[in-house]
This record gives sequence, C-alpha cells and structure tokens, in this order.
Amino acid sequence: MEKSMLEKISETADYILKEVGEAPETAIILGTGLGDLVNHIDIKKEIAYTDIPNFPVSTVEGHSGKLIFGMLGGKYIMAMQGRFHYYEGYDMKQVTFPVRVMKKLGVSRLFVSNAAGGMNKEFQVGDVMVITDHINLFPENPLRGKNYEELGPRFPAMTEAYSTGLIQMADDIARENGIRLMHGVYVGTAGPTFETPAEYEYFRVIGGDAVGMSTVPEVIVANHAGMTVFGVSVITDLGGKDIKEVPTHEEVQKAAIKAQPVMTKIIKEMLERI
Ligand code: HPA
Repeated sequence: MEKSMLEKISETADYILKEVGEAPETAIILGTGLGDLVNHIDIKKEIAYTDIPNFPVSTVEGHSGKLIFGMLGGKYIMAMQGRFHYYEGYDMKQVTFPVRVMKKLGVSRLFVSNAAGGMNKEFQVGDVMVITDHINLFPENPLRGKNYEELGPRFPAMTEAYSTGLIQMADDIARENGIRLMHGVYVGTAGPTFETPAEYEYFRVIGGDAVGMSTVPEVIVANHAGMTVFGVSVITDLGGKDIKEVPTHEEVQKAAIKAQPVMTKIIKEMLERI
C-alpha cells in the first residue's frame, strides 16, 4: 500500500536524525546562485538528496542537491542546498516536503533565500530585499487537499507570514553595517518563463516589488506548521515596460553570486543574535 504523507515524513525525519544525531532549530533554504553561505558553515554532516528516502531529486543546473548540517553564526543549523521548484514538474506536496520534514525534526525557524526580478522602480540589480509579505500566484496552494491536524490547521492565518521581529533584526544589522537593504512584497509565480513587460507591470500594480518562481509554497507550509519565517530576495534583473534588458538564467546566477556577501553577512549576524 502507498505510504501516507505522515508516514513518509516520519520515515524521512527518522533517517535524517539517525544520520546527524541531533536536529537544529533553524533551517535555511538556499536559492539560485546563493550557495556561498555554505562556505561559511562549519560542516558536521552532509546528506545528498539522492540518499534520503522519499526526497525528490533536484534537477536544475547549478543545484548540487544536499542537506548540510553544521555551525553558522555560533548556531547549529541545517541548510538545503538546492530546492525543488514547481516548474521542474514536482507537485506542491513534493516542493514542500522538506519543510514538513524540517518541522518533524524540530526546526522552528526557517530562513529562505531566492533570486528575483525587481519591479519596484527604486530597485537596482544586486539589491538585497527583505521579504515583508508575498502574493501567491502559483496555480495551486500546497495545502490543497486533505488537512492533517497533526501538521497544522485547515485554515491557517497568513497575516505575519514573515516575522516582523526577524525583519527588524535584519534592518538593525543593515543599518549598523551600512548595507542598503530594501523591503518588499514577493510575488510567487509558477514560471519557467520570465515575465512579459506587461506581466512585470501587472505584478507591480497589484502590490509586488519582486517576482520569482519559488519560496511561496515553502513559506505557506512553514506557516501552516507554525514556524517563524525570514525571507530574502536578491534582485538579479529588473522588469517593466521601460526595461529593455532581457533576463537570462546565466545573468540571474551571476547577479545572485555578486550579492552573496551581503546576504551571507545578514543571515550570519542574525543567527548570532537569535
Ligand atoms: N522573474 C521570475 N523569476 C525570476 C526573475 C524574474 O525576473 N529573476 C530571477 N528569478
């Protein structure tokens, strides 16, 4: 018989716990081109996604696909290097499965990072944007279907999807270090197309500051599970009716890599203060 979702979550968490011995309180999902943070982790253990029972396997170029456990900013953390995108063909339950497993392990705080296109006219390529809120434009909600009360409520509130306390902390760190740190609303779309000029314009008009193809599903599930969330986007390209540049995956990666030191600094310092 097919294993239920709850059985799969338990089985995967048990496997990981046996491998690492102890679970952290904080998990970090690293977005496209933002893997450099890993170089700052004092690594205790790595587990390839291919070795983890029930884990989907990441297919996107530039994603090595592993869980990393170790010390960062004086805290024991776990990091996902490579995430599962909806546009790759995974369903929403697969995209968000790692977050379910994190919660089962005992993780209570989730940091997410991503590369995003900027619609806010104040933004420049290379800016780092703290996500203050999101708009879910994926065609599906990861919580659609049977609700397991063990995992969270049927109708979870999303009024503070991104922790105001953690946003405040990031702002303090930015101010103290002279870092230009933007705030904004992240629009999550299925992709894999980048937007038409009219679509960037539309997302700006409805209240979006940046757009990307990830994060929203994981953040919905993290909130459902009662986790505290902090999100950050690196603005890798700009979109809108006056913007002539054409975004490519290579450019997105290049711009993300350039902004890594700032992102790393903020996350590391936040962990020190938590
Ligand atoms: N649109 C959608 N996703 C993205 C973009 C964009 O412009 N840049 C990086 N990820």
